[in-house]
Amino acid sequence: MAKYPTTTVLLKNGIKLLIRNPKHEDAQLLVDYIQQVSKESNNLSFGLGESPFTKEQEEKYIESMKNDPHRIMAVGIVDGEIIAVGDISGPSLPRLRHSGDLGLSVKKLWWNVGVGTAILQYLIDWAKSVEKEKINLQVKEDNAYAIKLYEKMGFKEEGRISRGMYINEKFYALIWMGLQL
Ligand SMILES: CC(C)(COP(=O)(O)OP(=O)(O)OC[C@H]1O[C@@H](n2cnc3c(N)ncnc32)[C@H](O)[C@@H]1OP(=O)(O)O)[C@@H](O)C(=O)NCCC(=O)NCCS
Repeated sequence: MAKYPTTTVLLKNGIKLLIRNPKHEDAQLLVDYIQQVSKESNNLSFGLGESPFTKEQEEKYIESMKNDPHRIMAVGIVDGEIIAVGDISGPSLPRLRHSGDLGLSVKKLWWNVGVGTAILQYLIDWAKSVEKEKINLQVKEDNAYAIKLYEKMGFKEEGRISRGMYINEKFYALIWMGLQL
């Protein structure tokens, strides 16, 4: 995984958010985090109990990323608790490695105080620092807050995949959005 300097950001509620790359010891915290956000949001690619990651797998994942300069993960921490996770993951093939795919989530208790903006800015700063030229993402068509956040950060809609997600016997389109750096 690419490394990027740790930073702190003052949130709208006056609390300081620490943003850094994950460490080996964060594995269990990440498993717990995924369990929590999968309960709180219907806008992720996994629901409650659908994430396959155990602590050991999470440890391996963190380790495997260490040697991959085309991937970065950022965890947002308050008082030792992971409250947000974002990542960019890109291929290493020369024709594709200028771009990466973004993922982002924030614990519900912390929505709308600037956490998503801060994590996204951190990832964009990293992408620029390694001369990436494009960030892509997919967002569920009815995820209005996420779409608003991405548009605020400069992302533009580039296309739609019909029946991109299937939740509780209903299909949702996925919107492709992109940011040129
Ligand atoms: C989408 C998500 C990442 C946004 O994170 P966040 O920390 O709440 O975002 P921010 O507080 O930085 O807000 C970003 C922008 O979104 C909009 N927004 C977010 N929450 C909002 C709310 N409750 N009401 C109105 N606008 C809202 C605003 O435009 C805001 O920017 P502004 O405050 O400068 O006007 C978060 O809600 C989340 O994790 N949701 C569940 C998982 C998910 O949907 N992930 C994205 C998958 S593509």
